[in-house]
Amino acid sequence: MSRISHRVDQIKPSPTIMVTMKSMELKAQGKDIVSLGFGEPDFDTPEHIREAAIQAIRDGKTRYTQVDGTPELKTAIIKKFHRDNELEFEPGQILVSNGAKQSLYNLLIAVLNHGDEAIVPAPYWVSYPDMIKLADAKPAIMLGSAEHDFKITAKQLQNSLNENTRLIILNTPHNPTGTVLRESELRRAVEIAESCGARLLVDETYRGLSYVGTPPHAASLSPRAISISSLSKTWGLPGLRLGWILCRDPELQELFLAAKEQIHISTSVLDEEIACRYLRDRGQHLQRIRGIVDERFACVRAFMAGQSELEWVAPEGGVIAFPRLRGDIDVNRFYQLLNDEYGTFVGPGHWFDMDRRYMRIGYGWPDADELARGLDNIAEAAARASR
Ligand SMILES: Cc1ncc(COP(=O)(O)O)c(C=O)c1O
Repeated sequence: MSRISHRVDQIKPSPTIMVTMKSMELKAQGKDIVSLGFGEPDFDTPEHIREAAIQAIRDGKTRYTQVDGTPELKTAIIKKFHRDNELEFEPGQILVSNGAKQSLYNLLIAVLNHGDEAIVPAPYWVSYPDMIKLADAKPAIMLGSAEHDFKITAKQLQNSLNENTRLIILNTPHNPTGTVLRESELRRAVEIAESCGARLLVDETYRGLSYVGTPPHAASLSPRAISISSLSKTWGLPGLRLGWILCRDPELQELFLAAKEQIHISTSVLDEEIACRYLRDRGQHLQRIRGIVDERFACVRAFMAGQSELEWVAPEGGVIAFPRLRGDIDVNRFYQLLNDEYGTFVGPGHWFDMDRRYMRIGYGWPDADELARGLDNIAEAAARASR
């Protein structure tokens, strides 16, 4: 009889990654596919950054690096915090890892035990619940509503605490809705976590793409608050697998370090070299990226203004929107038309624990023409599926 781990048996592959892979495969076969399923921007890597990678190989950089990240990279990250927020962090408060995802996993296995609960507001980034289960704990899902911009209220949060609550996970700018927490909301969440002895994890992966300003890094507010981030979203470099945990509690950092070391040893030296170079002249990259994101967002906003079959809470950051089909509409027919007839893919709401009337539209990946075509296809499919 084959025996498999109950931890792995209860999880599934991320549907957003699966649809991304599927649409890449169909495109490679020459099919006319419009994929609005991606959650990150797609930008050309600047030439001098590519050269930095080649130089690193020429220099024979193929050894393990420091488990917590090279000192050069940590200095570049610290300078970024300083320039962006005038915040001072020390090297010991940063742990570089293979993307925000691995940072999150290290953190979850370091702080959660069997029977513990981690609060996850829905809609959510699809990986949180499964990763919590992998850490042998239980996701406690709390439903947000469009009425409150999909943010859970302090009252909701407080009511959901129990003696098993160990972690509260927030994400801002938020995937899949693009809403952004205000400083007062973040401070309140920190207070609530502190009051019950839990920890607050804030996933700040889309942070540099906020259109409405950003609250402070959660980790700067309390030793019980932890921030994770990466180069994947704001910088459009998901293939680099480069992220970090920021935390002011030295004991916790020790645990994260041990978890990382036993799973991955160090991060890829090439990724660290490229990231270091990228972060050093980050200002000019961010300006270029923001320009493109602003254009794409303007395109989606103009589209939404003309739609009677769709409504939304307008995103305040990131490169994703979460509109909803309204009125008397055959939702199954809408997705069938959209996928099969229009070759267009979005993230249906149920992936995010919401009604299928919602859909996640990624506007960072397709070029402007493809985005416009995809949006038109959504409008046509919605009109045809209306009863
Ligand atoms: C909210 C959020 N956090 C983390 C990640 C993972 O990012 P990384 O590529 O840095 O592992 C994603 C990727 O989709 C995300 O949407």
